[in-house]
Amino acid sequence: MQTKGHQLCCGLDLFRKLTFLFFIALICVSCNHAKRKTTFTVGFSQCTGADLWRKTMLEDMKTELSLHPDVNFVYTDAHDNSQLQVQQVRKMLDDKIDLLIISPNEAQPLTAIVEEAYNSGVPVIIIDRKTASSLYTAYVGADNYQIGKMAAQYLGTNAKKSLNLLEIMGLPGSSPAIERDRGFSEEIRNYPLIHVKAKIYGDWVKSNAEKQLMKTSASLRDIDAVFAHNDVMASGARTVFNKLYPGKHVEVVGVDALPGSGGGLQMVDDKILDASLVYPTGGKEAIVTALKILNREPFSRENILQSLVIDSGNVRLMKMQLNKINSQQSDILRQENLLAEQQLVYKSQQSVLDIIVISLALAIIFGGLAFYSLMENRKANKALEAKNVEIVSQRNQLIEMSARTASATEARLNFFTNVSHEFRTPLTLMLAPLQDLSQNERLTAVAGKRIELIQQNAFRLLKLVNQLIDYRKIEVDKQGVSASENNIVEFVRDIIESFRLYAQKHHIQLHLSTMEKNIKVWFDVNMLDKVFFNLLSNAIKFINGDGKVNVRIRHDELHVYIDIEDNGIGMTTDETSRIFDQFYQADHAPVMGSGIGLSLSKEIIDRHHGNVNVVSKKWSGTTFTVTLPLGNSHFGPEEKMYEQNAWPDMFEQSRIYQADLIRRPAAIEKDAFQEPREFSILIVEDNLDLLAYLSEKLSSCFEIFTADNGNDAITQAYENVPDLILSDVVLPGFSGKQVAQKLKTDIRTSHIPIVLLTAQTNIEQKISGMESMADLYVSKPFNFDFLLAGINSLLKNRKILKEHFISDITGLEKTTVAKSLDKKFINDFTGFVEQNLSNEKFNVDDICKVIGISRIQLYRKVKALLGCSITDYILNRRLKKAAYLLINENYTIAEITYEVGFSNPNYFSTVFKGKYGMTPTEFKKSNEKKGEGQDRSITF
Ligand code: FRU
Repeated sequence: MQTKGHQLCCGLDLFRKLTFLFFIALICVSCNHAKRKTTFTVGFSQCTGADLWRKTMLEDMKTELSLHPDVNFVYTDAHDNSQLQVQQVRKMLDDKIDLLIISPNEAQPLTAIVEEAYNSGVPVIIIDRKTASSLYTAYVGADNYQIGKMAAQYLGTNAKKSLNLLEIMGLPGSSPAIERDRGFSEEIRNYPLIHVKAKIYGDWVKSNAEKQLMKTSASLRDIDAVFAHNDVMASGARTVFNKLYPGKHVEVVGVDALPGSGGGLQMVDDKILDASLVYPTGGKEAIVTALKILNREPFSRENILQSLVIDSGNVRLMKMQLNKINSQQSDILRQENLLAEQQLVYKSQQSVLDIIVISLALAIIFGGLAFYSLMENRKANKALEAKNVEIVSQRNQLIEMSARTASATEARLNFFTNVSHEFRTPLTLMLAPLQDLSQNERLTAVAGKRIELIQQNAFRLLKLVNQLIDYRKIEVDKQGVSASENNIVEFVRDIIESFRLYAQKHHIQLHLSTMEKNIKVWFDVNMLDKVFFNLLSNAIKFINGDGKVNVRIRHDELHVYIDIEDNGIGMTTDETSRIFDQFYQADHAPVMGSGIGLSLSKEIIDRHHGNVNVVSKKWSGTTFTVTLPLGNSHFGPEEKMYEQNAWPDMFEQSRIYQADLIRRPAAIEKDAFQEPREFSILIVEDNLDLLAYLSEKLSSCFEIFTADNGNDAITQAYENVPDLILSDVVLPGFSGKQVAQKLKTDIRTSHIPIVLLTAQTNIEQKISGMESMADLYVSKPFNFDFLLAGINSLLKNRKILKEHFISDITGLEKTTVAKSLDKKFINDFTGFVEQNLSNEKFNVDDICKVIGISRIQLYRKVKALLGCSITDYILNRRLKKAAYLLINENYTIAEITYEVGFSNPNYFSTVFKGKYGMTPTEFKKSNEKKGEGQDRSITF
């Protein structure tokens, strides 16, 4: 699943990335298309745009530019004003044009700005008119000098007689005017028939030419021919001459020969002009050259356009050709428009195609990816399927195993339940005669006690059997609730009262408090009684000595609450959290239990749709709170009984629960006349019956001390220093193992043999018991004789050890039996005594101080380990040392007396005689005799 999820995530991530790339690509494509539109900016500065020739030039440029939509074209008109033209060019340069096309109004005034443009790196194309400088990139236009010449040749060639000629020139300072004049003047000299009579400036403008002609009208009378620098000024001359001399034919030649209406060609055809020289505008050529320059392609610097003389002889042909050209031009235009449209379509199709190509590429990538992830998914699915098969087979095995376990548990439960049922009859049969027997007055006290013990334990067994059967009914067979409406206060009170006698006997205060005497609650009387018996007997069970059990009943609108509070030993948080677990028993439960009671109670409360809570504090007490809903809407119809069920016999039940509670006097009464026992035993057992039993049985041979918990056991061990401790493992407070551990590591008690007695029978538990330094581990149920034999054997070993200590204290290190702590004790004790043998003031208190234990503990320990009293031991050592000195040293009796710590030689003699049967002097003499020839030595 994880792999699949991971793949899906990766796939989505890739999809997102690719979609992003797709949009980036789209943006790039559209940017590309957009970019191609404006690559260059070409500025065109026109000296004037007013006349037809200039209009035609602009049209020619635009026609050519239409083929180059990527060129941004900027056009300015200087209106025949050179200053204005300079300003316009400067602006264009400031606007960062890529190339300048200029037709300067006058050569001189425009030279500086054109040179500046050129020098700043902006390519400059001069068209038609020139500046006074050669600093330009290219020139486009006809050769005006040549045109002047051609005009002269035409007039000269056609002159049949002597002719007077008038030259009407363009704007002074404009290059065509200068060049045309020069060419014409130089050539006309070759034709002697032609006499140039006058030259006037018409400034390229018809009206100006007419004005100037009219000014000199008097001198026009002799004029036979006119050469005007352009057709408009020529037509002006024709007008003036026709006006002044209507019958006279003056030959008029112009320049430009523009096609179309108003153009020079038409004027020739209409006989307004006799001839005109073609002066191409160069508009198209200028754009072609500009693009070559901008695209860094090869180009010609001087682009000289051809001229031609048009007169009546060729004008028609020319017109026809021009018409054809024009129609072809318009065809071309149409086709261009068509092409432009097609290009638009193409562009949009290109974009669509781009999108399709990208989409296709993406589709292929996505397809590949999808295929890849499909393959991966298949692989993952196969792996998952295999895993599933494995899991299913494991699950089936588990189901099979659990079915087998369930049936085994079922079988075991059936067995337990059947056996429990089987137990009931014999138990009842035992209890009835026991009841009779217990009432028999002829019984001895001992027999009475024994019968009582049997009776209590039979009840206890009956309780366990009943609980097992209830457990089976409720937990396993899921027996339903038969709820009827009852007074819960009365019900609980009856149960409490059933314990009253017991409570009084054992000084336990049992108290019920309630604000109301009658609280109606729906419950199953044959189930809920078990809950309260359990909780109440538990509360009593855990009371420490005299105590209190308070039961409170209260209710609100929805629920009734029953608190059972005791001031007993309480529980730890861990114990509290597990108390309702099945078969759970607190480690130190003071009396035996099955661990069923509370879990059964909880189950019963659950069936009643209620709740049971516990609050407890270690060593302070415990409160159980049972909460039951009021009304009966929480029960199903099959759970409700509208007839009242008879309540169970509370007193009969109580007897069974009380069996767990009976407390016996722990210590057996001591017989004042009883003979003193050689050994004492501390019995530690929380089951008071067992404690009483063991005490009674062992008291015939030993002095008995008892404790029913671990803490008391430790206190008593220090106080009484018994010869042996017999302890249960599971105890309230310190466990038996902890008690053993503590005592065995304390010098005051380390010598005491410890026997652990427990129901925990597995080998690990036994090992753990032995590891706690216990000397013997006896499993319950035990054979008393076996236990007694064990106790005797341990005491006997202790005796052997004791004799060993006494007989050879110096060789103590060799013993393997002595425990390290005891060995240390003996070493310390004997060493200290040896050091102080000559100290007559040396006493028991000195030893207690040095070893750090009390007088009684020292006394008991020395007695246990060395088998004699401390004073006996010291006296014995003193006398032995004295004997040694008597034999081996040459001291006087008085000296020896002081050397061994006696203050009086007579007293020393008396005591010495008491031990060795002779006075020191006699002892010395007898040993001298005995020792002659022998090694005189005595073990010291
Ligand atoms: C137009 C024009 C033409 C002439 C040319 C010379 O403005 O006057 O008629 O040929 O300029 O620059």
